[in-house]
Amino acid sequence: MASGSRAQFSSKLGFIMAAAGSAVGLGNVWGFPTQAASNGGAVFLIVYLLMVVVLALPMLIAELTIGRHGQASPLRSIASIWPKRSKVPVGFGLLGLLTALMILSFYSIIAGWLAGYLVSPILDLIGLHTAANWLESFSLERNLVLALVFIGLTMKVVMSGVTDGIERWSSRLMPVLVGLFVVMIIYILTQDGAMDGLKMYLVPDMSHFSADLVVGAMGQAFFSLSLGVTVMMVYGSYLPKDINIPKTAAQVAAIDTGIAFGAGLLILPAMFVAQKHGVQIYDQAGHLLNSDTLVFTVLPAMFDTMGSVGVIVGILFFALMLIAALTSSISMLEVPVSCAIEELGHSRKKAVWWIGGVAIALAAAIVFNFGTLFGLVITISTVYLQPLLGLVWAICAGWVWHRAGLLEEIRQGNPEVANSLFWKVWPNYLRYVCPILMGLVFWVTI
Ligand code: PHE
Repeated sequence: MASGSRAQFSSKLGFIMAAAGSAVGLGNVWGFPTQAASNGGAVFLIVYLLMVVVLALPMLIAELTIGRHGQASPLRSIASIWPKRSKVPVGFGLLGLLTALMILSFYSIIAGWLAGYLVSPILDLIGLHTAANWLESFSLERNLVLALVFIGLTMKVVMSGVTDGIERWSSRLMPVLVGLFVVMIIYILTQDGAMDGLKMYLVPDMSHFSADLVVGAMGQAFFSLSLGVTVMMVYGSYLPKDINIPKTAAQVAAIDTGIAFGAGLLILPAMFVAQKHGVQIYDQAGHLLNSDTLVFTVLPAMFDTMGSVGVIVGILFFALMLIAALTSSISMLEVPVSCAIEELGHSRKKAVWWIGGVAIALAAAIVFNFGTLFGLVITISTVYLQPLLGLVWAICAGWVWHRAGLLEEIRQGNPEVANSLFWKVWPNYLRYVCPILMGLVFWVTI
C-alpha cells in the first residue's frame, strides 16, 4: 500500500490483499464469534450475513468510489464531490478520523491480549512461569503494557512507511492463516462436545431474536469491513482507474465474511469442548461468562487438549492473529496520519508521534476505567458511529454527488458495468433503501 504520497496499488491483487488486510482482524476472530456466542449462534449468523449483503457491501462500494474519485486524503475526497465549498464534509471527515482513533484505542487492548497469549507459552517453555502467568492474567498493568507495545508496533510500521512490506506479508500469511483455520476446525469437530456448538452455530433458535441483536449485527458488519472511518476511502484513493470497484469490493467482502464464518465454526464448537474439559463458559443462569475474554479462554483450552503439538499450533495461531490485527491497526492510524500530512503539512514522523500519542492516551483512559469505558467505547464507535458515518457517505454518494459523476467514476475503465443490473439498481439503492433500512434498524431499537 502506498502511504503519504499519491502512489497506487501495483496490482489488483495487491489492493485486495491490503483492503482484506484491513478488514480481516480482531473483528473476525474476536468480535464475530463473541457476538455469535452471546446472541444465540445461528440467528446472529443469519442476520450478520444479511447485513453484510444489504448494507455493508453497497456502502463499501460507495466509500471506495468516493476515495478513487478524490485521489486524495478523505477530507479532500469528500469535499471533491461536494458542489460548493462547505464545512460540512470536513466536519464529518473529522468525526471519521476521531472514530478511527477510538477504535484503535480499544483494539490495541485486545490485540495486546493476543500478544500476551503469544509470548506466554514461550516463557513457559523456558521456565519463566511467573511472567507467563502474568501475561495471561487480567490486570491493569498487563493491559496497559501490552496495549502500549501494540500501539508502538503500529506506529513503527506506519512511520517507516514499510506498508509495502506489510502488503507482501499479508498476501503470504493470509493463506497460511486460512490453512491453519481449516486444520483447527477439522480437529475441533472431532472432539467430544463439538456437535453442541455446531448445532448452536448452524441451527437457528428464533427465541434469541431481538432488535438489539439486529443493531449488534449491523455494527459488527460495519466494523468487520472497516467502514465509516474513511479507511476504505483512503484505500480507494490508491486504486487505479481501470479496477472494477463493485467486483473488487465484493471479493474483499467475501474474504472477510468467509474468515468470520470460519472463526465461528472454530470458536463455538471449541466452547463446548472446553466445557467438557471443565472450563466454565456459562454462569448458573445460562449467560456467557466474561464474553470479552471468551476467545482467550476457549482457544488455549483447545490447544491444551492437543498435547505438545498444541503449544506450536497455539503460538502459530496467535502470531498470525497478531499480524492480522496489525494490518488492521495500521489502516486505522494511517487515516489521521495521511490527513495530518496533507492538511497540516506535518512530516510523517511528526504526525505518527502526536497521533500515536493521542491513541495511547485514549487506550490508557480505557485501561484505567476498564469496567465503564471498554464496552462503552466499543458500542459508541462500532454500533453507532460506524454505521451512521457509513450512512453519511452513502447519502453523499447517493444525493450530494451528481449522479452522472458517480456513475462516470464507476464506469471508468469498465464500460461493461453500464449493462449490468448493478448499474440500474445501486444508485437508487444507495439513495433510498440504505437510509431507510438503517433508519428502521435504529428506530426499532429505540
Ligand atoms: N475491520 C477490522 C477488523 O475486523 C477493524 C477495523 C475497523 C479496521 C475500522 C479499520 C477500521 O478487525
